[in-house]
Parts: sequence; C-alpha cells; structure tokens
Amino acid sequence: MLPSNSSPVVETLRWRGGHLEMIDQRVLPAHFEYVAYATAAEVAEGIRTMVVRGAPAIGCAAAYGVALEALAQQRANPGAFSAAIETAFEVLAASRPTAVNLFWALKRMRQFWETHRHRAATEVAAALLAEAHEILAEDIRSNEAMGAHGAALLADGARVLTHCNAGALATAGHGTALGVIRSAVAAGKRISVIADETRPFLQGARLTAWEMMQEHIPVTLITDNMAGHLMSLGEVDAVIVGTDRVAANGDVANKIGTYMVAVLAHRHGIPFYVACPLSTIDRDIPNGAAIPIEERPADEVTGYRDCQWAAKGVKVRNPAFDVTPAELVTALITEQGVVMAPNRERVSALFAG
Ligand code: MRU
Repeated sequence: MLPSNSSPVVETLRWRGGHLEMIDQRVLPAHFEYVAYATAAEVAEGIRTMVVRGAPAIGCAAAYGVALEALAQQRANPGAFSAAIETAFEVLAASRPTAVNLFWALKRMRQFWETHRHRAATEVAAALLAEAHEILAEDIRSNEAMGAHGAALLADGARVLTHCNAGALATAGHGTALGVIRSAVAAGKRISVIADETRPFLQGARLTAWEMMQEHIPVTLITDNMAGHLMSLGEVDAVIVGTDRVAANGDVANKIGTYMVAVLAHRHGIPFYVACPLSTIDRDIPNGAAIPIEERPADEVTGYRDCQWAAKGVKVRNPAFDVTPAELVTALITEQGVVMAPNRERVSALFAG
C-alpha cells in the first residue's frame, strides 16, 4: 500500500516508473531535484553520500534497494537471482553504520525474502517491492502517531530548539522531532522553532530551516555554539531531537552536538525530548558505549564544498554522532506513547505488548 498522505509537502522518497526517486539532500535548499535509482548498489551509494539521510529515511531507502535489485535480476537464473539478493543485503548494510533503522529494515526484508524465496523470481520481486512500500507507509503512520503524543508535551507559544534534521526529509514523511512540531501546530499551538545549524554537514541550516519555512512555521537559525546563550536568556522552552539508535538502557545516539545540547538543557532545567520510533530502538545493544559511531571524511570539517578554510593537512576528527546518556533525556516520544525518564525497564516495556 502506498502512503495515505496524498499531498505531502516534502516527499523524500517516491516510487515512479519502476524506479526509486530520492530528493538530493546534498544540494538543498539551493536546488530541489530528485535522483533516480535502479539497483541496490546505487541506493547504497545514495545513502553513503547522503543524497538521503536521517535514520528512518535510510531504512526506507535500503528496503527499496533490496526490492530494486530483485526487480533488476528477476529474469536471471535462480542461482544468480539469489546471489544478487544476498549481495544487495551486504552492500546496503555496509553503507552507513550508526542508524539502526537501516539494519532494522534489512532484517525485515530478509525475513520476507526467506519466506518467499521458493517462489518464482517475478513474484518474489513483486512481494519485496510491496514490503518496501509497506515500510514507507508504516513510517509515516508512526510519525503521525508520535506527533500526536508529543504535541501534548508542548505548551502554546513554546519556543523549541532542535538539532540536525529530524523532519520529513529524514523520514518517509511528517518527521519525528519536526513531526511533533507539525502536529502541535496543526492542533492550533503557536510553536516557534530554533534550528541549530548543525556543523559540519549543516542539516539544520540547509534542511530544517527550509522545511519549516515551506510550511510557514516560524523558525530562527542559530549556529551550534549559540544554544547555551539562548537558553541562559530564557529563550528556549523545550528541546526536541530525533535519534539514530537508542540502546536498551535508553541512551540516545544522534547527530554530533546533541549531547552538548542535552547537557545545556539539563543545566537550564529545559525538557529534552527525543522523538523515537520503535524501529530506532536497538534492544541488542546494552548501552550507548556499544553504538557504532560513524567517522566521516576530514574535508567536511576543514571546509564546505569548494571552500577550504583550515590549513591543508591539519589533523581532523569528524565523528558524525554522539551519545546522550538516558539520565539527560526527559522523555522518549514513540508511536506507542511517551516514556518519561527512560531506562532499561521502561524501554523494554514498549515491546511487551
Ligand atoms: O547524518 P544524518 O543527517 O543522517 O543524521 C541524521 C540525524 O542525526 C537525525 O537526527 C536522526 O537520524 C533522526 S531522523 C528522524
């Protein structure tokens, strides 16, 4: 089933003419253009190079990557078809390490593949594509549910700081952190957003600010090092961020700089909320120390695009994510409801039903 929201403002991934199309998020907001994908290897490259980014969107893209490979190889002999699907899983799993949604979606596609692999390749390909469509549709539904739960936490007039982009662009639609804001606005609350620019890839400046402006939700852009100052002036009422992986004890991995924001929020008594679909919770990982943190290329830190400002050859660190301990998280906002003061027991209880 294709998603129910017939006219989303931002359609990050879409199925058109037998191909996956994804908005090229590397060139937003200067250019709004789609790139078409026909194979798993192409999709893996799109994830690696951040054409598509954001944990749930990466998961959806990977699911389509498997389906695309099955469609591309459906006329091959059975042995070659199976081998191509196995390679697709491997290539996609190697694209980025931190967002668990990637592995969650691949696991789900693998279960589907194992169940259907005895059938004709054309039927398997059609079934895998249907499952990818379902993953996309479910993501939108869970974001809308998260939005409804989270909106209740925001007071009318709240000034909400967010870090990175956890919006429609980071998901199949609506967004997680920005989804909560969208839902609060739809419920009639006057919410304004403070967007951290999010060095070094500038997801806040390029994507979050743009997304909010598309919908006329008031947004103010700041550089990352201004957050503490604004909090000290009493200009921030709540923080909401997304996440790439939550460990079993409630520790949260998200875009580099999130930990700093959480510490500042704690210092200033500002609630720090994490919008987190269940697909982002990794119960196999005991705590945040076990979450793999992606290191990205040095040139993202020494400059931006064609402009290099740091001395050539300077030693650089570029971890793309950091871990916020559960004790700094006021609540996880999930599609099943709000989990206050998350810990191992409360996270586990989300999966009890
Ligand atoms: O490197 P990115 O842009 O993929 O990082 C994205 C984030 O850190 C998001 O906050 C996270 O994936 C949640 S998206 C709903």
